[in-house]
Amino acid sequence: MTAVVDTFRSIVGADHVLADPDVCRGHETDWTGRFQGTATAVVRPGSTEEVGAVLARCTALGISVIAQGGNTGLVGGGVPRPGGRPCIVLSMLRFADLGAVDTQSMQVTAGAGVTLAAWRDHARRAGTDTPVDFAARDSATIGGAIATNAGGSRVLRYGTMRRQVAGIEAVLASGETVGSLAGLPKETAGLHWPSLLCGSEGTLAVVTRARLRLVPLFEQATTALVATRSITDAVALLALVRDSVTSLDAAEVVMPAAMEIIVGHLGRRCPVEAPSAGCFVMFDCTDRFDPTDQLTAALAADGARPLVVDAAVATDATQRSRLLDFRDRITEAIASAATSLGTPPFKLDVAAPLATLDDLIDTASRVADHDGARLIPFGHLAEGNLHLNFLGATDHVAIAAAVLGRVAELGGTISAEHGIGIAKAPWLHLIRTPADLAAQAAVRKALDPAGILNPGVLDPSPPDTSGTQEP
Ligand code: LAC
Ligand code: ZN
Repeated sequence: MTAVVDTFRSIVGADHVLADPDVCRGHETDWTGRFQGTATAVVRPGSTEEVGAVLARCTALGISVIAQGGNTGLVGGGVPRPGGRPCIVLSMLRFADLGAVDTQSMQVTAGAGVTLAAWRDHARRAGTDTPVDFAARDSATIGGAIATNAGGSRVLRYGTMRRQVAGIEAVLASGETVGSLAGLPKETAGLHWPSLLCGSEGTLAVVTRARLRLVPLFEQATTALVATRSITDAVALLALVRDSVTSLDAAEVVMPAAMEIIVGHLGRRCPVEAPSAGCFVMFDCTDRFDPTDQLTAALAADGARPLVVDAAVATDATQRSRLLDFRDRITEAIASAATSLGTPPFKLDVAAPLATLDDLIDTASRVADHDGARLIPFGHLAEGNLHLNFLGATDHVAIAAAVLGRVAELGGTISAEHGIGIAKAPWLHLIRTPADLAAQAAVRKALDPAGILNPGVLDPSPPDTSGTQEP
């Protein structure tokens, strides 16, 4: 293996190949501590040409490549996995370049290693904003957000990452570069690389740069935390609010168990109260003009009044940020509780039709009770996207089988925004036909004949354990 590591050193420079196990560990274990494997090295290319040379070598040598950004993924797609051939982690963090904000096209070019927070700060300095935002913004990168077709809280207004990518530059397993960063809003000229690569989880190519859409920066904002009697009432309320509040940016759902854990974590009292079978919705509005009246009028309207049990409204930046903490910091609170328990949380990111969310939560509660786990549900209401977190769970397979099986029966999806990774690959058949999966495998084989790109991820077949000896 030393010769292989030397090959990578000759391509990216000795300083950018990490082989010391202690140094590599942070890249080999996922954020939750649930997924872990061993890499031959962590390779940090600094240019598209270097990515090309590394991938061409890996194809020639049969070494797997796991592209990694901020390592905030939750489905084991960005870290090495046990079994299979030797692999490298291809850390894209040196692709941190941001181009000038083009306020005419409302676009900017960003390197794959730019964090969501850096993208947002850059956009805001130029009087624009980013259409995608989520809690892991300080570490999560553009490359990872594209790979997973990330969502977050602004999806109801602007759509997922897929809608934000106007151009892409990526490197194939052969080492060749494909795509374009022209960012033409209209072009019909055959294969559209952004469409193909968004959500492909590092299995078709390695994204190096993207031309990204920007949105107006709204200075005025209002946040409301509302309690309802049930998630069904929350869905009904959301429909009314969406109908009349044009500035709606986010409608996030926090179930009582999630509120309980975040209240304990923050050490602050929740400013509103919900019945035990109820739920909380965090509405966030941004606009050029103060949206407070619009939002409060919608919450007080005749149709909405019976649905609202309690509400707190915040308008100044500090108060809003304190209110938003009750949603934004739930994942952090769960991680902290899991650390105290000594076992990583078991996470299922799913989505189901809005009318079925109470059924889905009921199913998940029964499954959690049966296992002896504690269920912490929260998520993004408008997309029916629930993050079902199980603390202290013992039988992950039984939980996944029951919950994901029900999601599929309800007409939902087993992954709304975190991706399939290796975590959910065995359940893909629940929502994809054999023909879908065969076509996906054929595309993958055509672009990556040696099968080096993120093996196991998005692949419902058992892992390939051939070629386990060093090349
Ligand atoms: C969130 C992440 C976990 O919604 O997707 O906070
Ligand atoms: Zn989320």
